[in-house]
Amino acid sequence: MAIDFKQDILAPVAADFAAMDKFINEGISSKVALVMSVSKHVVEAGGKRMRPIMCLLAAQACGETDLTRTQRLAAVIEMLHTATLVHDDVVDESNLRRGRPTANATWNNQTAVLVGDFLIARSFDLLVDLNNMTLLKDFSTGTCEIAEGEVLQLQAQHQPDTTEETYLNIIHGKTSRLFQLATEGAAILAGKSEYRQALKTYAGHFGNAFQIIDDILDYTSDAETLGKNIGDDLMEGKPTLPLISALKNTAGEDHAVIRRSIATGGTADLERVISIVQTSGALDYCSQRATEETDAALAALQALPDSEYRQALSNLAKLALHRIQ
Ligand code: IPE
Ligand code: IPE
Ligand code: MG
Ligand code: MG
Repeated sequence: MAIDFKQDILAPVAADFAAMDKFINEGISSKVALVMSVSKHVVEAGGKRMRPIMCLLAAQACGETDLTRTQRLAAVIEMLHTATLVHDDVVDESNLRRGRPTANATWNNQTAVLVGDFLIARSFDLLVDLNNMTLLKDFSTGTCEIAEGEVLQLQAQHQPDTTEETYLNIIHGKTSRLFQLATEGAAILAGKSEYRQALKTYAGHFGNAFQIIDDILDYTSDAETLGKNIGDDLMEGKPTLPLISALKNTAGEDHAVIRRSIATGGTADLERVISIVQTSGALDYCSQRATEETDAALAALQALPDSEYRQALSNLAKLALHRIQ
């Protein structure tokens, strides 16, 4: 049976979710009007809120009883995520996010960078209030690794020789690490260190699957569905898994087209690249890798006691995979 987001994932933490949203809105308040309008512009556009939901579910899956502090943590997670998106859209020169013009497109790069900085600083300001040094250290280290992932990706840009291993390092940093903070942070805050590793493993594999799927969708979906433009990765000459895999599976002219597209960027060859990615078996390989990562995520959950929350975490991983099926 198809998994329903509201019923099979959100329902067990629906009340926490509403409270968490309030904390986000309080969190982005600032005495500087421009800071607030930019933050609001991005936050109010919505987004799937997957990281905070995962955080709320993880907390309850390991038996957290203080729900207020978990809601605060979940709000911090979403604010950090929002900050990385605001910065990411500057770096990627993207114009559309969550169905709206990006902050950089609406204001300018300077404003987006500085408000992104504010959101990161404010997230740590709120984390300190949770009064847990282990948590603070985990987030500080993790946030450094997120930044390192984005820089690694920048170095790989326009490099057709980028390996799948490098790609995995990049996505681990830029994407999976924040999912790990969401779940591991919940266990730390709940004082359930025995569940830290299992939740971290789950989120790490989930994040890998999620980013691989996102990279597939950049070649197969459309702006209407995604709320962001497709072809952005090719535009930027990003060697994502669909291209790395297409390079492995092709020779001759097709191979040359992909190499050239990565090296130069731009979307002049987008149609051709999409067709090569589809016919070379690259997409099949990417879906297979996403499925493997999802299976590893699901296996890790077995270390947690059975509950409706653990079930919802499992549903979330399955639903993410269905985006490409
Ligand atoms: C976007 O994340 C960035 C990636 C890791 C691909 P989401 O797809 O979760 O973005 P929102 O929050 O729903 O907009
Ligand atoms: C997402 O990376 C941003 C972070 C994880 C920091 P991408 O650049 O691959 O994702 P989209 O396509 O812009 O959402
Ligand atoms: Mg981007
Ligand atoms: Mg990016």
